[in-house]
Amino acid sequence: MILWVLLASVALSGVTTGSPTVTAHPDAASENRVQATAVVAVEEVMETGELNPNHYPAQRPAKVVQHYLNTLHGSPYKLFGLHKVKRAYAEDVPGSGRKYQLELSVQEVVQKQTTASCSAEVIFPREATHPPLQVNILSYGDDLLKINVSVQEEALYQQYKKNHSLLFAQNLPDSYGHMEPEHVPFWHLGAVASSFVMLGESTEYTLYNMAQVANVTQLPSDDDLLKFEYDVLLHEMVSQDIIAWKVLITWSPPEGVKVLKMEKRDYTVTNLKTTLL
Ligand SMILES: *[C@@H]1O[C@H](CO)[C@@H](O)[C@H](O)[C@H]1NC(C)=O
Ligand SMILES: *[C@@H]1O[C@H](CO)[C@@H](O)[C@H](O)[C@H]1NC(C)=O
Ligand SMILES: *[C@@H]1O[C@H](CO)[C@@H](O)[C@H](O)[C@H]1NC(C)=O
Repeated sequence: MILWVLLASVALSGVTTGSPTVTAHPDAASENRVQATAVVAVEEVMETGELNPNHYPAQRPAKVVQHYLNTLHGSPYKLFGLHKVKRAYAEDVPGSGRKYQLELSVQEVVQKQTTASCSAEVIFPREATHPPLQVNILSYGDDLLKINVSVQEEALYQQYKKNHSLLFAQNLPDSYGHMEPEHVPFWHLGAVASSFVMLGESTEYTLYNMAQVANVTQLPSDDDLLKFEYDVLLHEMVSQDIIAWKVLITWSPPEGVKVLKMEKRDYTVTNLKTTLL
């Protein structure tokens, strides 16, 4: 109980003192923009029952659904952003934690053609005896699954499978919001890799976005998978912390994105101001 009150008050002060909205550069960071616009700077004590869809208590579990969808379906050409929370309902479930029932819409932010409804449940553990974070997608629009990017994925795969020069890129996007067109798919892939981390790190009191791919390095691979090491910077909006993670992933069109290793870094962010205006 004491811990709960403490966390809630940290969340409150984070919102009142910090700027809760990330405004990213329009050219390169449209995905961050999509993710951030829905957030309203109001915080409340954890409520039960029907929640205001625009407030943090409803936005946070909805963000978890976004990350979960990316871990299931994300690729260099397919990335989901939270578009709008339509309805949110919270209740305590003895033995499980706190359950949020959500009606939301998600947008595919790379092709930008599809916005679809999704209904989901998120259960955050509240005690050590509770099972870990659970996300259940109850339904989502067929349109999301119909997005077919196999041609683009195959072309990218073939290009980088010929490993005579392995990819290396930094600061996607840079402090002016810019990145080279050939790096854009690897920024999206970094966002998918980040979703794995953010899904694992999310609690009832957090709201994560990827801020930047600091480094991406392609590693030699002996099998059919492409292998990448990412240094990503994540922005936790409630505390306003920027957190660095190293994530090792593989990707191929048939296998999708798999995480081999994730590691939180002890890293002080000095140059990100311009990206997170
Ligand atoms: C996606 O498009 C490709 C090429 O147009 C086609 O071969 C493939 O069957 C499609 N996949 C799905 C799941 O519709
Ligand atoms: C390229 O890939 C092959 C296997 O696909 C591997 O044996 C070789 O070491 C790689 N070369 C470089 C430079 O990464
Ligand atoms: C990115 O790589 C450089 C080395 O090229 C390193 O100094 C820096 O710490 C890395 N950034 C992060 C966030 O890990």
